[in-house]
Amino acid sequence: MTVLMETLQNAAAALGSGSWQPELAARLEQRGAQLRHRDGNVRRLLGRLAEAPRLQPSRLDLAAGRVVIGAPEDLGAWPQAALHDLLMAFRPWRKGPLRLFGIDVDSEWRSDLKWNRFKDHIAPLAGRRILDIGSSCGYYLFRMAAHQPDLALGLEPYPPFFCQYLLLQGWLRQPRVHCLPLKLEELPAMDGRFDTVFHMGVLYHQRSPHDALNRLASLLRPGGELVLETLVLDGEDDLALCPRNRYAKMGNVFFLPTVPLLMTWLQRAGFQRVRCLDKSWTTAEEQRRTPWINTESLADFLHPADARRTVEGYQAPLRAVLLAERR
Ligand SMILES: C[S@@+](CC[C@H](N)C(=O)[O-])C[C@H]1O[C@@H](n2cnc3c(N)ncnc32)[C@H](O)[C@@H]1O
Repeated sequence: MTVLMETLQNAAAALGSGSWQPELAARLEQRGAQLRHRDGNVRRLLGRLAEAPRLQPSRLDLAAGRVVIGAPEDLGAWPQAALHDLLMAFRPWRKGPLRLFGIDVDSEWRSDLKWNRFKDHIAPLAGRRILDIGSSCGYYLFRMAAHQPDLALGLEPYPPFFCQYLLLQGWLRQPRVHCLPLKLEELPAMDGRFDTVFHMGVLYHQRSPHDALNRLASLLRPGGELVLETLVLDGEDDLALCPRNRYAKMGNVFFLPTVPLLMTWLQRAGFQRVRCLDKSWTTAEEQRRTPWINTESLADFLHPADARRTVEGYQAPLRAVLLAERR
């Protein structure tokens, strides 16, 4: 069986039994076939995955800001330059930082800075069933694994990021970590299945934030915790920015609410004890162009004459982290 199909089946099995199983199995069968027959880029990445060396990492560090997998000596006869080429084939590396068998993957985002904003405030992850929506290469899933959850399930619909996850998990083999190449909207109804849901960097991509928040509430058990991180509009009024076209060059941004409005949305979706942990302007320390991405980054998204504005003239990126409990 291919790594892809094995990954999908193991993730479905880890979810346990429930009435959703036939729908999930059918959806994964369909998605697996789509991925195998997708455009040249996905086929190329799946080909590179098949060639990746099956290495046994002598050390792991998932608890620190930089996720470490293996040491240079673990490469044996494999030249480090060949591993470097392989990793470069999986660009852009957006989330990290990672150190893979001695190679520092200096990702576009310092994801450890976001983790530090909520780590001391969330309910301890040990023994919990966690869903991470928009999990990218799995950086946060692997950080969560260090806390001994019962399950850390990612959803990552963008095939190149899902392939990065397959590459990293191929070396890490974390038994409690799984990932499905699905959108939140494509996950069958699994009411109350999770203790903690992370929804970070996704809400502004959703056309219908109310539907998304309702969906998040339904996935959590009563008393379960939502960790929500999103772009917000500065200010205290009940207002949201709805970009005319692009926001910071992104074509798929729909709503940036103020924090008070976001809190109201959460309450209306069935959450209580809603609190804002942090509001931070995105800096060039946190998001910047590095050799590990082949695209533009923050500096290119800001107005050349005024870094407080995006190139389109909107407020520069401001992100908030909120915690909420399912009623
Ligand atoms: C801006 S990144 C955020 C990644 C990570 N959660 C973080 O906070 O750093 C958004 C991620 O969510 C994924 N995504 C976008 N829409 C999604 C949806 N409807 N359901 C699940 N994931 C989605 C994207 O493919 C991308 O990997």
